[in-house]
Amino acid sequence: MIIVNINSIIIDVSYITLKGRAKMEVRKIGVAIVGCGAIFQNHITPIIDNKNVDLLYLVDIDEEKVKRLANKYSCNYSVTIDDVLKDERVDVVHILTPHYLHYEMTKKTIMASKNVVLEKPATINLEDANKLMKLSKQKNKQIAVVFQNRYNPSSIEAKKIIESNELGKVKGMKAFITWKRDEDYYNQAYWRGKWDTEGGGLLINQAIHTLDLMRWFGGDIVSLKGHVDTRLLDSVIEVEDTADATIKYKNGAIGIFYGTNNYIDNSSIEIEIICEKGKLIIRDYALWQESNNQIQKIIEDTKGLGGKDYWGSCHKIYIDKVYKKLCRSETVDINIEEGLKTLELVQGIYSSSKENKYYNMRY
Ligand SMILES: NC(=O)c1ccc[n+]([C@@H]2O[C@H](COP(=O)([O-])OP(=O)(O)OC[C@H]3O[C@@H](n4cnc5c(N)ncnc54)[C@H](O)[C@@H]3O)[C@@H](O)[C@H]2O)c1
Repeated sequence: MIIVNINSIIIDVSYITLKGRAKMEVRKIGVAIVGCGAIFQNHITPIIDNKNVDLLYLVDIDEEKVKRLANKYSCNYSVTIDDVLKDERVDVVHILTPHYLHYEMTKKTIMASKNVVLEKPATINLEDANKLMKLSKQKNKQIAVVFQNRYNPSSIEAKKIIESNELGKVKGMKAFITWKRDEDYYNQAYWRGKWDTEGGGLLINQAIHTLDLMRWFGGDIVSLKGHVDTRLLDSVIEVEDTADATIKYKNGAIGIFYGTNNYIDNSSIEIEIICEKGKLIIRDYALWQESNNQIQKIIEDTKGLGGKDYWGSCHKIYIDKVYKKLCRSETVDINIEEGLKTLELVQGIYSSSKENKYYNMRY
């Protein structure tokens, strides 16, 4: 047996002579999923479909649920992450637990020399995300933070057009997210709606994807001024249900953000990017381009790929890309540094709202 250490993933290669021909057997990437709640299906489907990946464990504190799911997907189960971290066959751990658990679980996993696929937000405060970034470098293990909406066809095309400079420089951007999270939603899980366990409300849980896209499309951000409020659910949650911000980009562009969880439906997010020679608009799950007095639809987003369409349907594309990168020992597209920078947008709005002044970005 030859052991090939490709930096972050170790692959065992065995040569077996079969009818005189050499056959190479490669050990698959061993995977565990921790947290089997609402987002679980979006992770398990790409994992079981990936021929390079071997699902070894499911973990959840709800023993009845995890046992049933482990039976369905023919793998081991545990009620604690500690068991799977002891198993050398586990190379990657998907962490899909409530926000307040992200830091400790990711830290333990990296300390156990395993890579992490971490659902957003990276952590519930910047200091912890920064510590994870340092630890990931020290231990040479990767933390891939899930922002699947960067892989929506509309996002990919918009980014390409911006980078091609076809429409010139980005001058400004507005982004709206108007979704519905009512009392029932908050009552479904003990950790939602509280600062200690969710780390915030609309911004850290729902709008974080839209803020990530604003950063991805517009580039580095220098400062922002924002405001958060609880307008409808003040008797139900501690955290905000509505927020807005004015964002100053390094290149001089201005971004306007508005988000609320108080709408009566989950509308498609809307992002308008004004460039020197035209406009890009993401609306109704499609990308539109307006230039030379003409508006045309560039591409539509794919829907119905699992989970809820308004979350964005690209978990599979995201997870497949992560495994491709890990197999080649390349850096994942959205690493912990990216997760930290987008988290800073969220935390910057909280801080600015509290102190009623501009927040200057540190990371
Ligand atoms: N990317 C997206 O679009 C998207 C969408 C929804 C949720 N999420 C994220 O996914 C994560 C989970 O959210 P959810 O809505 O699935 O939550 P959930 O409450 O539905 O599920 C969380 C699961 O974790 C389990 N759990 C709690 N403590 C645990 C522990 N100590 N060890 C093991 N399991 C434990 C719970 O029993 C539950 O099954 C969050 O970070 C959330 O923001 C992302």
